[in-house]
Amino acid sequence: MTSDQIKSNGMKSLFTLLLCSSLRCHAVGLSDLLDRASQLSDKLHALSTSLTSDLDTHFPTMGRIMMPHPSTCHTSSLQTPNDKDQVLSVPESELLSLIRSLLLSWNDPLLLLALEAPTLAHPSNSAIYSKTKELQDNTHSLSAGLDISIMGNIGSSNSFTPLPFKGGNLGQDNTSRLIYFHFLLSCFRRDSHKIDSFLKVLRCRAAKLRPETC
Ligand SMILES: *[C@@H]1O[C@H](CO)[C@@H](O)[C@H](O)[C@H]1NC(C)=O
Repeated sequence: MTSDQIKSNGMKSLFTLLLCSSLRCHAVGLSDLLDRASQLSDKLHALSTSLTSDLDTHFPTMGRIMMPHPSTCHTSSLQTPNDKDQVLSVPESELLSLIRSLLLSWNDPLLLLALEAPTLAHPSNSAIYSKTKELQDNTHSLSAGLDISIMGNIGSSNSFTPLPFKGGNLGQDNTSRLIYFHFLLSCFRRDSHKIDSFLKVLRCRAAKLRPETC
């Protein structure tokens, strides 16, 4: 076997492990699994973009000035490849752990957003709430798909530890809550874009397309 074949077989078994539930294991192709995962990540990115524009329809002018810098997102300390070329040079298993770390790191903040959305001082708060809920559910589905046996099978590693999220509430007054909600969402949107692009590189490699088309 060539090293490419070994790599590709390794990846195949890794994904079979990841995506086979312990009770039911259908023989689904690797490409199908990755297709489904990328569809979900696509959806996450689209939902967060749509939520951002909903919020923008009634967002205080001051909000843009008061919004924390993206470098203060709780996931910013995670080292991720910055551009396409870097992504292409990262091994599959590492891309997967980055995806998993990002997804896990969003469990708590997404819960907070879903709790806060219904009382947000925004005229579209009920639409914002249902999209936030959908965001949370889809994130869980994607996580669950990748979660199942990664820990047991390739060993738990520090890279799977979710990044600590310290914001227990959004803020005291209506404006601060709205600004912090928007801030967290923009952090999520950035991370969902990373997850989506990592998954698409994995899918492309699995489909054995020429590297330059990935
Ligand atoms: C804060 O927002 C809520 C929900 O929109 C509203 O009922 C309440 O009056 C607002 N409070 C202040 C102080 O503006």
